Amino acid sequence: MKTFAISALTVLGMTLASVGTSSAGDAEAGKATFNKCMACHAVGEGAKNKAGPELNGLDGRKAGTLEGYAYSDAMKASGITWNQAEFEEYIKNPKAKVPGVKMVFAGITKQSELDNLWAYVSQFDKDGKVKAK
Ligand code: HEC
Repeated sequence: MKTFAISALTVLGMTLASVGTSSAGDAEAGKATFNKCMACHAVGEGAKNKAGPELNGLDGRKAGTLEGYAYSDAMKASGITWNQAEFEEYIKNPKAKVPGVKMVFAGITKQSELDNLWAYVSQFDKDGKVKAK
């Protein structure tokens, strides 16, 4: 019983600590969230551009630079280099982060969902292979 109470408190503490600050997410859970993006984006081996650019090798990639995809001027001029913080700010509210962007997406506000989504998307290298950990 005592052990149970302690572990419950630990879980609660961890949950509270993760509110509002990005942390390491769960790629498996992020895969489910990526369903919200799949109408327009592909990632992984053989990913092709759809309405939006494919997202392989996103970690460290400069925004608006994928060859063969016609970006808006807004995205090309954004000056963003994708990392967890930039990505999460963008996905929270794409039009606020990049005014004039042509991605029509309402945004995701839940921090854990953003962290999981980044964990999922950022695991692919530019060839769509899962990076070694
Ligand atoms: C309705 C289609 C649509 C949906 C849904 C959508 N996107 Fe996009 N996305 C786009 C388009 C179009 C662009 C290109 C924007 C531009 O050039 O202005 C884009 C651009 C991006 C970029 C910038 C890529 C680069 O090469 O710089 C990222 C990152 C991105 N989307 C992630 C996501 C994620 C993650 C989701 C799901 C949470 C998502 N998008 C949902 C259409 C969409």
